[in-house]
Order: sequence, then structure tokens, then C-alpha cells
Amino acid sequence: MTGSERAKEIYLTGLRNQHGVEAQAIETIERELDRMEPYPELHARMKEEIIRSKTQQARLETLLSGHGTSPSATKEMVTSIVGKVAGVVHLPASDEVIKNLLAAIGYKAYEVGSYKALITMAKAAGADGDVQSLEQSMHEEMEMAEWQLNHLPRIVEAFISRTETK
Ligand SMILES: [Fe+2]
Repeated sequence: MTGSERAKEIYLTGLRNQHGVEAQAIETIERELDRMEPYPELHARMKEEIIRSKTQQARLETLLSGHGTSPSATKEMVTSIVGKVAGVVHLPASDEVIKNLLAAIGYKAYEVGSYKALITMAKAAGADGDVQSLEQSMHEEMEMAEWQLNHLPRIVEAFISRTETK
């Protein structure tokens, strides 16, 4: 295999992995969404995040099909790796919403990093035309990461006052 073929393979595997990362994000939010209802701001934003993650997934599908391929079975492997990061905190507990939000912050950092890695991989594979689409998703992830950190104190305060009224 030549160096450029190898770079291309690394990149395409990266795209498929990221498709799995988005799938895991959607699944996790859908599972947790009901329990966010007492926190309307968080609930609304996470609902939007499902739509956004699906859009990001579609972008990855477009890139993959541009290279004559599609998302594949490698997804499961990635899902189980990332699942461990997110899975730690899914024990039912009264502070579950806070723990889930902290896990989501960790997951979002992973997503920002993985899009940044994909941009480097795309350039190494000579797929410069893909960079703009990957940058768009990375900036969305960065924006969400910022939102989560900015809103964390307010959500913690809301959690505390809910505890007080019980
Ligand atoms: Fe995402």
C-alpha cells in the first residue's frame, strides 16, 4: 500500500468512526431527554442537539459516498469505546441530570477533538474538498461545548433548588 492509499484508508475509517460517534450521541440524548424535562432550557437545547447530530451524520454520509463508500460495521467498535465514557454516569441517582450533563461535556470535547483530527486526516489524504464540511461540524461542536459550560452553573442551581423544595 502506498503512503497516500494508507492516508486515505485512515481518513475513511475516521469518517466511519465519527458516524458511529454521532449515532451514539443521538442514542444517549434520546434516552435521557425525558429526565431533562424539569430543566426546560437544557431540554430544549438537547432536542436541538439531536437534529444537529443527525445533520452532522448526513454530512459524513455525503463525504463517504463522495469517496465511493458508506458507513459500516466498524461503528459498533467505536460505540463501545465511547459508550464507556458516557456509560459510567448512567446509574439512576437523584443528581442524574448533573452527572449526565458532565458526561455530555466530556463527550462534546471528544467530538470537537475528533472533527479536528478528521480535518488533519482529510488534508493528509488529499481530500481538501472535504475540509469545509468537517470544519462546519467542528464549529457546531465547539459552540455546543461552550453552551454546556456556560449553562452548567444555572442547571446546578436549578437542581439545588429542586432538592430544597422536596
Ligand atoms: Fe456531533
